[in-house]
Amino acid sequence: MCGIVGASAQREVAPILLEGLRRLEYRGYDSAGMALVDHGRIERTRAVGKVAALAERLGEHNPGTLGIAHTRWATHGGVNEANAHPHVSNGRVAVVHNGIIENHEALRSRLRDAGYQFDSETDTEVVAHLIDSYRADGSSLAEAVRRAVAELHGAYALAVVAADDPETLVATRRGSPLVLGVGIGEHFVASDVAALLPVTRRFVYLEEGDMVTLTPDYFEVTDADGRVLDRPVQESVLSIEATEKGAYRHFMLKEIHEQPRALTDTWQGRLSDNNVLASSIGPEAEALLARVEAVHIVACGTSSHAGMVARYWIEAEARLPCNVELASEYRYRDPVVPRNCLFVTLSQSGETADTLAALRYAKSLGEGAGYLATLAICNKPETSLTRESDLIMMTRAGPEIGVASTKAFTTQLMCLRMLTAMIGRGPDRAERVVGDIRGVGSAVERVLELDSAISHLAEHFVDKQHALFLGRGPMYPIAMEGALKLKEISYLHAEAYAAGELKHGPLALVDEDMPVVAVAPNNEWLEKVKSNLQEVRARGGKLYVFADENSGLETEPGITVLDMPHVPDTVAPIAYTIPLQLLAYHVAVAKGTDVDQPRNLAKSVTVE
Ligand code: G6P
Repeated sequence: MCGIVGASAQREVAPILLEGLRRLEYRGYDSAGMALVDHGRIERTRAVGKVAALAERLGEHNPGTLGIAHTRWATHGGVNEANAHPHVSNGRVAVVHNGIIENHEALRSRLRDAGYQFDSETDTEVVAHLIDSYRADGSSLAEAVRRAVAELHGAYALAVVAADDPETLVATRRGSPLVLGVGIGEHFVASDVAALLPVTRRFVYLEEGDMVTLTPDYFEVTDADGRVLDRPVQESVLSIEATEKGAYRHFMLKEIHEQPRALTDTWQGRLSDNNVLASSIGPEAEALLARVEAVHIVACGTSSHAGMVARYWIEAEARLPCNVELASEYRYRDPVVPRNCLFVTLSQSGETADTLAALRYAKSLGEGAGYLATLAICNKPETSLTRESDLIMMTRAGPEIGVASTKAFTTQLMCLRMLTAMIGRGPDRAERVVGDIRGVGSAVERVLELDSAISHLAEHFVDKQHALFLGRGPMYPIAMEGALKLKEISYLHAEAYAAGELKHGPLALVDEDMPVVAVAPNNEWLEKVKSNLQEVRARGGKLYVFADENSGLETEPGITVLDMPHVPDTVAPIAYTIPLQLLAYHVAVAKGTDVDQPRNLAKSVTVE
């Protein structure tokens, strides 16, 4: 989704802005642009496609110590240069925007009547003209931005500069993320800390409605009425390496291989010898979680699959009713909320608009409606989701840059594994689970040894159009996650079915051109899964099965079996995710797609 970078410095800012855009590329975008203020003029450069295309257009030397830059993920208006940001009003005001202005049509017709001409189809251009219109009476840039945003409906993070104000950058947010970077003799804004790590490690996380005015040696955060706010400057612990590919060919591959470490980091400090410590997620958590009588889990995309696995765990082990739902559906259907219901959101980014909206919906209804408390399981610190939830359990996966989520997903599963024990009532089971959790990192290391075998397997998928994924029990959502990964990065149409459902429809699709992938750990469903696989084989389907080494399944004509190391049932969904991630990765590499930035997708979806 759109990325913003801005800087006011005592040196030329174009290289800083360009590097910032490169570091935001992972968010997903289709065009890029930059506006620099130099000698009372706004110099704008835009390009469709990658940041590299913008860099080429910019050339070597781009003077200007104040500027804003943007990667655009199209919402209003097609992908073309005219719609790319920054948008400039009469050569006087330049704006970059992440989010959606819902009342842009009304504002546009008003501004047209006032004589403004529109050069794009975007909702953002109205913001540029609106700010410009408020500057006509001599208002400062900050005052004009304040008056303009008071009229906006929707979600935004905005960064604004003016031709006649060579040092000042004004930025504000409501609904879309924005951080302020504090340097020495220079200040910055960006959608994400990662964009600014080469220039600063000190950040102010802006909150809803905050507006910041900055120059090279000054910044001030105010609220919507102009009152000065005291927001803490925080030191980021992220290393630059954490946001770089290192020796790996793609971020996704790096992140897949980081999972043993990420999973271990996620449970560290949260376990005693024989139990999972509820107190590790806050002093009040133990008492609160002891009162939980039901759970609602809400998320989008990959994160929703983690929730679906957790339903199996929470109902079977904690014996609590658990409802899992896509965030975009949940809040519009008036769900029945049982008493003392724990409302859980799962999100890598903590900024997904639908998930955030569902959280706000639950909070607005509150305890009277049945909600006991809200818990965010999130990978990024200082996000809207973490700020607005009662309890927070961080997945400590580290920065995830590849658009297709990998380590964020398995660490979500790890958190949900622990949450199940926290709300469960049986200490015996918890003791066993603690041992299983501690062993996950090394189990995943062993699974990663299948990497090269899976890269050979991937060759069978390269010329295919479709694939089916099968699993049963908690492996059904894992099959869904495998299908989603393949879709996202290799553009193969893939669908997942609960294996028992095969005969009720999808079996009609099975022929030798339809590879069928199955996950078969050695659990209570194994024999049933074997029967389902026979149904495929009998119809000439080509099976690829990731099966427990003791499953009894063997490679023979029509079925290729890759042996998985034995892992305890309680953590099998984590381990069985890994080969499916690797399969999707290697199919995408073989097909030559853009693995880390698949077409049309965004890492953090901040619009509904
Ligand atoms: C986008 C990403 C997905 C992600 C989903 C939810 O669609 O491309 O990878 O699963 O958003 O994101 P979240 O940050 O809330 O987990």
